[in-house]
Amino acid sequence: MATSSILCSFILLILFSSFSLQTSADSTQRFIQCLTKYAKNSESISQVVFTPANASYNPILQLNLQNLRFNTSGTRKPLAIVTPIEETQIQTVIYCARKNSMNVRTRGGGHDFEGVSYTAEVPFVLLDMINFNRVNIDLKTSTAWVQSGISLGEFYYRISQKSDVLAFPAGLLSSVGLTGLLGGGGYGMLKRKYALSADNTLDARIVDYNGKILDRKSMGEDLFWAIRGGDPASFCVVLELKLQLVPVPKSVTYFAVQRTLEQNGSALFQKWQATAANVFPRDLDVRVVVDTITSNSSPRQDKKTVRFVFQCLYLGKIDTLLPIMQKYFPELGLVRDDCTETSWIKTAPMFSGFPVGTDPTILLNKTAIPRNSVKIKSSFTTQPISLEGLNGIWDLWLKQPVQTTLIQYTPFGGIMNEFAESALPFPHRPGVLYMINMAVTLAQNEEATLQWINDLFKYYAPYVTKNPRTSYVNYRDADLGIGSRTFQQASIWGKKYYKNNFDRLVKIKSVVDPLNFFNHKQSIPLLM
Ligand SMILES: Cc1cc2nc3c(=O)[nH]c(=O)nc-3n(C[C@H](O)[C@H](O)[C@H](O)COP(=O)(O)OP(=O)(O)OC[C@H]3O[C@@H](n4cnc5c(N)ncnc54)[C@H](O)[C@@H]3O)c2cc1C
Ligand SMILES: *[C@@H]1O[C@H](CO)[C@@H](O)[C@H](O)[C@H]1NC(C)=O
Ligand SMILES: *[C@@H]1O[C@H](CO)[C@@H](O)[C@H](O)[C@H]1NC(C)=O
Ligand SMILES: *[C@@H]1O[C@H](CO)[C@@H](O)[C@H](O)[C@H]1NC(C)=O
Ligand SMILES: *[C@@H]1O[C@H](CO)[C@@H](O)[C@H](O)[C@H]1NC(C)=O
Repeated sequence: MATSSILCSFILLILFSSFSLQTSADSTQRFIQCLTKYAKNSESISQVVFTPANASYNPILQLNLQNLRFNTSGTRKPLAIVTPIEETQIQTVIYCARKNSMNVRTRGGGHDFEGVSYTAEVPFVLLDMINFNRVNIDLKTSTAWVQSGISLGEFYYRISQKSDVLAFPAGLLSSVGLTGLLGGGGYGMLKRKYALSADNTLDARIVDYNGKILDRKSMGEDLFWAIRGGDPASFCVVLELKLQLVPVPKSVTYFAVQRTLEQNGSALFQKWQATAANVFPRDLDVRVVVDTITSNSSPRQDKKTVRFVFQCLYLGKIDTLLPIMQKYFPELGLVRDDCTETSWIKTAPMFSGFPVGTDPTILLNKTAIPRNSVKIKSSFTTQPISLEGLNGIWDLWLKQPVQTTLIQYTPFGGIMNEFAESALPFPHRPGVLYMINMAVTLAQNEEATLQWINDLFKYYAPYVTKNPRTSYVNYRDADLGIGSRTFQQASIWGKKYYKNNFDRLVKIKSVVDPLNFFNHKQSIPLLM
């Protein structure tokens, strides 16, 4: 019974993809008629539906289109965009999309690296959560109910308006969406002290494929586990989340110290590898961002060199940070002048790439973060890379066709070591030293740049996790394999993102979304 209806929907899907433009205009029309007919308030739904004929369709599509790799005329556009302001509108969208054999893609911050939240291979409706950004903070319990369309920056800003000693452990870049980030786990500068965003999620309200609204109690612990790291877009539409806020001191310390290869960068990096995850106290998080610059002290003819930026958030004052750094990492030569003592919220713009001192209201500005065409790859290490290995990386590094790469090294350790692989779908914790993510901008010389990032990824193979070589689902990478029609097909990439948690995700998926209504090219498959 279930199998035949699944088969049926696939055949419908295949038929649908080959229909003409005329037919897609017809089905868009039918979809809109359906919305008007079944919406609780037909007046208000007509104000949040946009087809290519509406003047606002393009601006809305563009608003959170973050990766310009998917801003081409060849990319399939949604038949309609709905920007719901009420929960019932989402229920109606799901009902009418199913009735018209349309896919639904849900977009939050729009940062998915393979664009799965706003592109599809089949006719689809874009559910853009742009208007779902209400935040309710309860200071008595230090918790917040947050609607799912909120960006990290806006959420951080709202917290700071209520309290200067509360924070939330989530990502660095302000325009990233909270639900998308948390849906893959979600790490940031507080992870060594407070773990992942997903660990600090207490409850959620969602809509399933039948349009039913469920909370943690009614969805059950399996699904609640799955949506915190196992890709909510495979299971449901998230409406809102209840989050545990965490205490931070009134004054925290920030620094970003730069060293080049000529300034002993490689040896410093080696020392960082041995220190940042397993020696530093939990109040101290030092990541390393590596890129290429031109420097007169470079011995090379082209004057290129590798630059290492040691970037830090310390939950305390400069006076206590300096002796800690002196004790564990004196080679860095950190001095008081390198450090800025400020409130937690005032460090947020710096981690988004703005200069020291930028006013936190920038966190509310959705267009302040520059957009590029980007490709990313990620890996995890459990052991320090040898000096020889590192030197090979920097050599390869200086051979980039276009100098647009950024590698971020993110230390784990601290409380991250206390979680079993199965605690959440995000399995990359016990014994993990650091995460590596390598991003390239593809503005020019795209083919050579892609080839180069693949070479670098290959070079890392002996130094990172094996069998499987793991990657972070939030750094979605289609090169790991695509396809979610069968368990076999999806296991190829699924085990890399989730290790053995993949099997549990598949079982949960088969129960909660048996028609595979919520799907994309790397969605959790049904058990078949
Ligand atoms: C510049 C940059 C910096 C980053 N920094 C960090 C970082 O510091 N830490 C970190 O952990 N990650 C980081 N990421 C990765 C980021 O967490 C993921 O790309 C994340 O998926 C983005 O979420 P989004 O809402 O912005 O994107 P979207 O593309 O809108 O969504 C991502 C996925 O979540 C789904 N989704 C979104 N909203 C909902 C909803 N309401 N219900 C169901 N499904 C939904 C989408 O359908 C899609 O599958 C960064 C990414 C970029 C581009
Ligand atoms: C967009 O156009 C459709 C008709 O094609 C209309 O029903 C809808 O109300 C329009 N949307 C807005 C926001 O005006
Ligand atoms: C996407 O491309 C269009 C057409 O080239 C351009 O007008 C638009 O600004 C681009 N979008 C973004 C977000 O840069
Ligand atoms: C480079 O750093 C290493 C350890 O990180 C240290 O032993 C060495 O003295 C440093 N060399 C210079 C020239 O600073
Ligand atoms: C947002 O940032 C952009 C780019 O920096 C700027 O042009 C714009 O004026 C800012 N908007 C607001 C409301 O501050």
